[in-house]
Amino acid sequence: MRNHPNSFSTMAIHHGYNPMNNEGALTPPLHLTSTFVFETAEAGGNMFAGEQAGHIYSRISNPTSDLLERRIAVLEGAEAGLALASGMGAITATLWTLLAPGDEIILDKTLYGCTFSFMHHGLAKFGVTVTHVDLTQAENLKAAISDKTKVVYFETPANPNMRLVDIAAVADIAHAGGAHVVVDNTYATPYLTQPIKLGADVVLHSATKYLGGHGDVVAGLLVGSAEMVEDIRLQGMKDMTGAVIAPFNAMLILRGLKTLELRMDRHCSSAATVAQMLEASAAVQKVWYPGLESFEQHDLAQQQMSQFGGMIAFELTGGKQAGIDMMNRLNLISRAVSLGDAETLVQHPASMTHSTYTTEELAEHGISVGLVRLSVGLEGVDDLLADLAQALPKSSIKTAA
Ligand SMILES: Cc1ncc(COP(=O)(O)O)c(C=O)c1O
Repeated sequence: MRNHPNSFSTMAIHHGYNPMNNEGALTPPLHLTSTFVFETAEAGGNMFAGEQAGHIYSRISNPTSDLLERRIAVLEGAEAGLALASGMGAITATLWTLLAPGDEIILDKTLYGCTFSFMHHGLAKFGVTVTHVDLTQAENLKAAISDKTKVVYFETPANPNMRLVDIAAVADIAHAGGAHVVVDNTYATPYLTQPIKLGADVVLHSATKYLGGHGDVVAGLLVGSAEMVEDIRLQGMKDMTGAVIAPFNAMLILRGLKTLELRMDRHCSSAATVAQMLEASAAVQKVWYPGLESFEQHDLAQQQMSQFGGMIAFELTGGKQAGIDMMNRLNLISRAVSLGDAETLVQHPASMTHSTYTTEELAEHGISVGLVRLSVGLEGVDDLLADLAQALPKSSIKTAA
């Protein structure tokens, strides 16, 4: 086994795989099998009883997804990992496992649209109390947490408005109150932030985004303690959602992880350049990017993120309609939801990814109707700047005095 435990990219490329155990194959084999043969009937029974290791059926585990699970665990600094069919599969499998009727979940104010919908229209229907607290101020949790609170859940940076949560501060308060901390790390990826090291209990991802990185697969991942991941595997995933990753999709995420560090470096540097350009434009009222000094939580970003990511939110001085018109003038940048792909993508959260919020809820949860979300891709940054410049109202680019 090649063993280079300290370098992120080396682990992302080599961890957990020895070609010499696989006929010298450089690339791990794709195990396209639904079920596994037991040497003896007793061995099968022992595996079901948890007394013998081995694969039983691919709704529980499969060697290709198993390798992916070990890789994401080491990259996040966790004991164990689990691969699922989608980010929503990871979220729902986790929360169906950790919560029961009568429990409370405390959420930050802003969440991805379908996550928000699952909390309010899914969990709430089954007797879980769903409470939002502004977790950008960790002390707010102290006042809100009670014996009923079993999970504290947040995204950092949050989709779509980029608000950050101090993971260590929130985890301290949550743990003192007896609650588990679940962090959606989709925007940051383990290359920029490792929430387990800051006290999170479960870290989950839409692997559809940066981890896959090429816009060709929908997948989810989560990590945590071996015990908690096993509970989520056997309850939330196997029995309650069946949100199992296909082995081929696991292979695509393994491929994506190999270049995560390289891609994130480029996403981050290009996004910083684009954020500065947008901030300098008179057509732009406000830019939310954690790397900008004007970003309200810039200090926390510096403390918690090694770089500031590839996502930007901004609003034009002309408001919602100006934003829509600008999106329609873009030529290179694609109007599409999702994020973290090689292609730069632009979308309007209020009418697209966050249309699960009512107009009142958008206002209450800090999602401006004029907000435009940009996922900065891997194209030449000058081409992105040129496309944005031609799409912004022409007279509005600030010129040097
Ligand atoms: C922050 C975040 N979490 C979770 C999800 C859900 O992931 P998936 O689309 O892979 O189910 C998304 C999807 O956009 C997301 O942006």
